Amino acid sequence: MENLNHLIDLNDYPVKTWNQIISLAQLIMKSPGTYKGACTGKIMGTLFYEPSTRTQMSFQSAMLRLGGGIIGFDNPETSSTSKGETLGDTTKTISGYSHLIVMRHYLEGAAKAAALTADCPIINAGDGGHLHPTQTLTDLLTLTEEKSRLSDLNIGICGDLKYGRTVHSLVRAISHYKANRFTFISTPELCMPDYIKAELIERGISFYEVPTLESALPQLDVLYMTRIQRERFDKSDEGKKEYEKQKKIFTLDTKKLKTGKEDLIVMHPLPRVDEIAIEVDDDPRAVYFKQANYGMYVRMALILTLLNHEHSELVTTDDSMAITNDFVSNAQCENLKCITRYEKNLKNRLVKTADGLVCNYCDYCS
Ligand code: NCD
Repeated sequence: MENLNHLIDLNDYPVKTWNQIISLAQLIMKSPGTYKGACTGKIMGTLFYEPSTRTQMSFQSAMLRLGGGIIGFDNPETSSTSKGETLGDTTKTISGYSHLIVMRHYLEGAAKAAALTADCPIINAGDGGHLHPTQTLTDLLTLTEEKSRLSDLNIGICGDLKYGRTVHSLVRAISHYKANRFTFISTPELCMPDYIKAELIERGISFYEVPTLESALPQLDVLYMTRIQRERFDKSDEGKKEYEKQKKIFTLDTKKLKTGKEDLIVMHPLPRVDEIAIEVDDDPRAVYFKQANYGMYVRMALILTLLNHEHSELVTTDDSMAITNDFVSNAQCENLKCITRYEKNLKNRLVKTADGLVCNYCDYCS
């Protein structure tokens, strides 16, 4: 991989860089006209292999507001993927037409794999149930604006914590700020993955796992709701039954919200399905539509940062592509949704660690 500034996982960069991007987003919000032509002549490719409304359009709007242009697809069936082209070949080609690629994919680790062949920076706009770093930047900006701080927060995260990539990225990021603690509200079947909990335990961050929204709500500063990720369930009849069972377990309504603090904020990456009643939208503590709007400004800041380094210092902490003796050759990642199961030529797949074999692309531990 060339030393390009990809954004695959927020944790590949130091907290200082996240803060710089958030500050830049705040400057843009205050004075959008100043940045009007900042990306004139630049082209952003948006490769969306999975449905998206906010992420795709906020990126597109961000680039257009900066004076740049956009190309891309949001239906892989109309691209050469449907003819059997590999992700690596598609990325290599589009990176010759663009200065920046934003990619969403249904396979975990796909953005990292794409970065191997790209000749321009790749932004991970969601890779299966794994990570969603630009939603996390959106969430950090939302917290900065709506709570005036990123530390000392009691954060409740509710819903599908197993497949919800937004919460995986968020927890890993916000745990780097001081004195934050988490309450994970989910069913046992959809609880937070072990690799995230292990990271929290290792770093001494406190978290609780509880089965009801009612028991957690009164203590929270932030309630982050998520939908049950229907598309990640098994397509079998059993999988469909399981989704039906899970989908209405957690619903926030005005009655429950009454028990929340006066300065609580309710966030949601959206789209919502059944987990927040429409009546909650009128409560001033519901900030999820504002959050979607912050996403556009933070993406403007991110595009500027990746394309125009003068806006922020970019020093990656990531050395995960470096070849070390800890890679295990010929071993296969056990995660059936991992990109390495589909792109057969990917190198350096599994790393030997104290916890076992960890996939270098999707973080799955076996
Ligand atoms: C999220 C996603 O795609 O992971 N949406 C978004 O990008 N705002 C959340 C979701 O789909 O539930």
